[in-house]
Amino acid sequence: ALKIATIGGGSSYTPELIEGYIKRKDELPIKEIWLVDIEEGKEKLETVGAMAKRMVKAAGLDWEVHLTLDRRAALKDADFVSTQFRVGLLDARIKDERIPLSHGVLGQETNGAGGMFKAFRTIPVILGIIEDMKELCPDAWLVNFTNPAGMVTEAAIKHGGWKKTAGLCNVPIGHRKQAAEKLGIPEEDLFFKFAGINHFHWHRVWDKQGKERTQELIDLIYGPQEDSESHLKNIHNAPFHYEQIKDLGMLPCGYHRYYYIEDEMLKHSIEEFEKGETRAQVVKETEARLFELYKDPNLDYKPKELEQRGGTHYSDAACELIASIHNDKRTDMVVSTENNGTITDLPYDCVVEVSGPVTAHGHEPYNWGAFPPAARGIIQVMKGMEETVIRAAIDGDYGAALHAFTINPLVPGGSMAKTLLDELLIAHKDHLPNF
Ligand code: NAD
Ligand code: G6P
Ligand code: MN
Ligand code: MN
Repeated sequence: ALKIATIGGGSSYTPELIEGYIKRKDELPIKEIWLVDIEEGKEKLETVGAMAKRMVKAAGLDWEVHLTLDRRAALKDADFVSTQFRVGLLDARIKDERIPLSHGVLGQETNGAGGMFKAFRTIPVILGIIEDMKELCPDAWLVNFTNPAGMVTEAAIKHGGWKKTAGLCNVPIGHRKQAAEKLGIPEEDLFFKFAGINHFHWHRVWDKQGKERTQELIDLIYGPQEDSESHLKNIHNAPFHYEQIKDLGMLPCGYHRYYYIEDEMLKHSIEEFEKGETRAQVVKETEARLFELYKDPNLDYKPKELEQRGGTHYSDAACELIASIHNDKRTDMVVSTENNGTITDLPYDCVVEVSGPVTAHGHEPYNWGAFPPAARGIIQVMKGMEETVIRAAIDGDYGAALHAFTINPLVPGGSMAKTLLDELLIAHKDHLPNF
C-alpha cells in the first residue's frame, strides 16, 4: 500500500492531483495521502484538504487523507513525495514580476530575474526536505513540480544527492495534444522526442509510418497564415517569426516566446504591469474564486474554473509518473532528469528535460544528440546561467547571483543587472536565509 506526501498541499491545484489518483485507482494501491503545508497556508490547506476528502469519499475509496503542518510526520515512511510549494506564496511572485517590469525588464515566474529569485527562495527549502527524507523515507521518490522545476530538480539530484528525483511540467503534455489535434492523428499514434531544459525545450514529431512531421507542424502552428496559438493560459499569445522557426527545424515550447520575441512579450507585460494585471495579480483573483468554490460542502469534483490556471492537467504528469514507476508501465514521458550524455551539448551531471519511458527504476531518456548551432548556443548559455543560479542559491554568493543575472538573456547586463538584483534581494530578504 502506498503512502504519498504532497508538500504545498494547500495549493489550489490539489484537486487536480486527487482527480488524477482517482482516475488511476486500479493502478495505485493508495492507503494514505498526506497534504503538508506551513502556517501561512493553513487556511488554504484546510479548505482544499476538506475538498480532497470529499472527492475521495465520492469516488467510494477508503484512502486516508491527512492534513498537517508537520512535514516530518508526512514524510515518515512515504513512498512518493510530491512537491508543489511556493515560498512566499503569490505575493512573492508579484514582486518577481513587478520589480523587473518597473525597470522595463521582463518579470516572469520561471524566466529572467523573477525565475532566478524563485530559485533562490526555493532551493534551500528543497534541500531541507531532502535532509528530512534521508532520515524518514530513504527509499522514496521525489516528484518535483515546484518551479523553477528544472533548477529545483537539478539542485535536488546534484547537490542534495537525491537521485530518485523526477522533475515534471505540464507544458510538454499540451504540446503533444496540440500536435495530435493539428495533424488529426491520435496522440498515441505519434512519436515525440523532446529535449532541452524546463520551459526551454524543443521537440520533433514522427508518425506511425516513420515519417517526420515536424516541419509540417511548424507550418500548421506557426505558418504565416496561422495565429501562432499558445495553449498555455499564462503565456501571452504573441506570434513567433515564422521564418526563424522554420529555420530552427524543431518545434519550440511556449516559453521560447520570451527569448525569440522578447520585445513583443515585454511590451505586453508592461501593459499588464501598468493595469496592475501581471499574471500573479490575475492568478490571485482566480485563486480566491477557486477557494470560494472549494468551501462549498457539496462540491466533490474538480471544478472547471481550475482550467484558468496555467498548470491545468498537470496531474496527467504527476499521477501517471507515479503509476508508471509503481507498475513499471514504461509510459513515454517528458521528465527533468540527469543528462548522462543524452544531450551531448550539455554537461553529464546537469538536469535536462527529455523524453523517454518511465520504468520502475525511473526515467530512461532516449538519446537526443547535439542541437543545431543556433539552439546549441542559447541552451548552453541558459544551462550555465542555471548552474550559476543554483550555486548562488546554495552558497548565498552575491557575486554568483550577479553573474547569473548578467548572463541571463532576459536581464540586461551591467548596472541594470546589479540594480535589479539589489532591489529584489531587499524585497525578498525574509525568504533568503542563505544571502
Ligand atoms: P501557491 O502559492 O498556492 O503555493 C502552494 C502552497 O505552498 C501554499 O499553500 C503555501 O502555503 C505552500 N508553501 C509555501 N512554502 C512552503 C514550505 N516551505 N513548505 C510547505 N508548503 C509551503 O502555489 P501554486 O500556484 O499552487 O503553485 C505551486 C507550485 O507549483 C509553484 O512553485 C508553481 O510554480 C508550481 N507549478 C509548477 C507547474 C509545473 O509545470 N511544474 C505547474 C503548476 C504549478
Ligand atoms: C504552466 C507551467 C507551470 C507554471 C504555470 C503558471 O503550466 O508549466 O510551470 O507554474 O503555467 O500558471 P499560472 O496560472 O500560475 O500563471
Ligand atoms: Mn512548467
Ligand atoms: Mn543579461
